[in-house]
Parts: sequence; structure tokens; C-alpha cells
Amino acid sequence: MRIDGSVALVTGANRGLGRAFASALLDAGARTVYAGVRDPSSVSDPRLVPVQLDVTDAAQVEAAAARCADVDILINNAGVMRTSAFIAAAGTDGARDEMAVNYFGMLSLCRAFAPVLERNGGGAIVNMLSAASWVTPTGMGSYAASKAASWALTNGIRVELRSQGTLVVAVHAGFIDTEMAARVHVAKLDPAEVARMTVEAIEAGTEEVLADDETRAIKAALPTALETLYPPIQARWDERHPRTPR
Ligand SMILES: NC(=O)c1ccc[n+]([C@@H]2O[C@H](COP(=O)([O-])OP(=O)(O)OC[C@H]3O[C@@H](n4cnc5c(N)ncnc54)[C@H](OP(=O)(O)O)[C@@H]3O)[C@@H](O)[C@H]2O)c1
Repeated sequence: MRIDGSVALVTGANRGLGRAFASALLDAGARTVYAGVRDPSSVSDPRLVPVQLDVTDAAQVEAAAARCADVDILINNAGVMRTSAFIAAAGTDGARDEMAVNYFGMLSLCRAFAPVLERNGGGAIVNMLSAASWVTPTGMGSYAASKAASWALTNGIRVELRSQGTLVVAVHAGFIDTEMAARVHVAKLDPAEVARMTVEAIEAGTEEVLADDETRAIKAALPTALETLYPPIQARWDERHPRTPR
């Protein structure tokens, strides 16, 4: 789809990768970019339209979908990493936070905005995932579980929303140079580069972005699910839910 003239909502657009997504969309000609953020005063870019949005707050998600009724690109970027292992962590609070924001927050946004996107011609949903959707690094196991759940969600909504013409893009990346990865001392991706690849994917109608060599190597170690497992799932869904594709 064309980004020029589009209207986007980016969750967590006040900092990190979300801010880079918002800038890249504006640079590509987006007409309006809503910044869905917990604290509207934290949005420093005057080109963005701040919208109060804690993705774990059902009432705020509903209000954002009503207010941003002109959106045709939703970028689910907001996320947390609590650096908790499964057994070695002191408790399960970190794991619950990660599921609440990374998985249930994303699910709520997808459900609230699917009808908005349909009314606006189909549009696109971009879900920010991770190389950790496919591998479980020790020390951040519960984060990986939340990203694996979000990958499953992304694959499912792609099937459900295809007939309304919504492009669903999964973005997988290794470490990116933001606050989330500040304590990790390895080579990191530039957030602007991840945003640039994502904008290109939206424009080209590409369903998956693999942002770096490590992520590509991890994906290559997995079965080719998109190409082999999902076409028959899509065919069964379409048979049970007949609609004229846009
Ligand atoms: N950095 C990496 O190495 C890396 C790698 C792969 C994938 N990712 C993914 O990329 C996305 C962006 O991460 P980042 O690296 O930019 O992290 P970050 O610098 O820590 O920024 C996280 C963003 O999410 C927002 N957020 C957190 N909880 C929220 C909630 N309940 N409602 C709304 N917004 C919320 C934060 O807002 P506040 O300012 O209010 O806290 C902030 O804007 C995440 O989904 C992350 O999992 C990151």
C-alpha cells in the first residue's frame, strides 16, 4: 500500500523504535501519524498527534479506535522486557507484564482497529516481534514466550483479515539500539534502519521483515511455515468464511 497520504497510529511512539517508525512514516509522506502513548507530554516531535493510550487499558484502546477513525496503518510497537527467566526469576510478575503489554495489548489493538482498517479500505497492521519469537535466550525467557505468542497472533490475524484487504506485516529483529537493549553490549541495529525496512515492506506488500543476519539465520533454522503450512489454513478459513476479496 502507499504510505504517501496515509494515516497511521504507532503505539509507544514517544521513544525508541516507535519514534523511528513515526519519523519514517512521516518522511514517506504519511498525512497524519498518531502517537499512542501512556504519557502524551512525552511526545516531543511536534509533527505527531499524541493520543492517550496504555495498550493494557481496554477503555483507552476503545477510545483510541473511536478517535483515530481515519487510521489505515496500525503499528503495534509498544513493548516491555522484564529480563526474567522462567524458573530462576523471583516470581511471575515480569512474565505477566510482558504478556499483558506484548501479547494482550497487541491483541486488543488488532481487535479494536480491524473494523477501522476495513472501513478505510483494508490498510496494514505491523506487529513488532523479535528474533526471540523463535528462540528462547536464557535470562529473557518470558519475553520470548510473549513474542512467540504475538507471532502466533500475527499469523492468525493475517488469515482472518486477508479478505478485508488488510496487509499484516511481522517484523522480527535482534537487538536494536534503544533503552530496552541498553544493558546488552553487542552490535545493535539502528532503529531508523528497522523503520526504513518496515516502510519498504508496507509499500511492497511484504508480509515479513527479517531485519538482520542473526534473525535470518534463526528463521532459516525453522520450517517454512508461511510458505508451506499457512496456505492450506488460509484455504480452509476462506471456505468457511466466504467473502469476496477486495
Ligand atoms: N530493543 C530491542 O533490542 C528490540 C529487539 C526486537 C524487538 N523489540 C521490540 O520493539 C518494540 C519497541 O521496543 P524499543 O526497543 O523501542 O523499547 P523501549 O525503548 O523500551 O520503548 C518501549 C516503548 O513501549 C512503550 N510502552 C511500554 N508499555 C506500554 C503500554 N502499556 N502502553 C503503551 N505503550 C507502552 C514505552 O512507553 P513509555 O515511555 O511510557 O514507557 C515506549 O514507548 C517492542 O515491542 C520490543 O519488544 C526490541
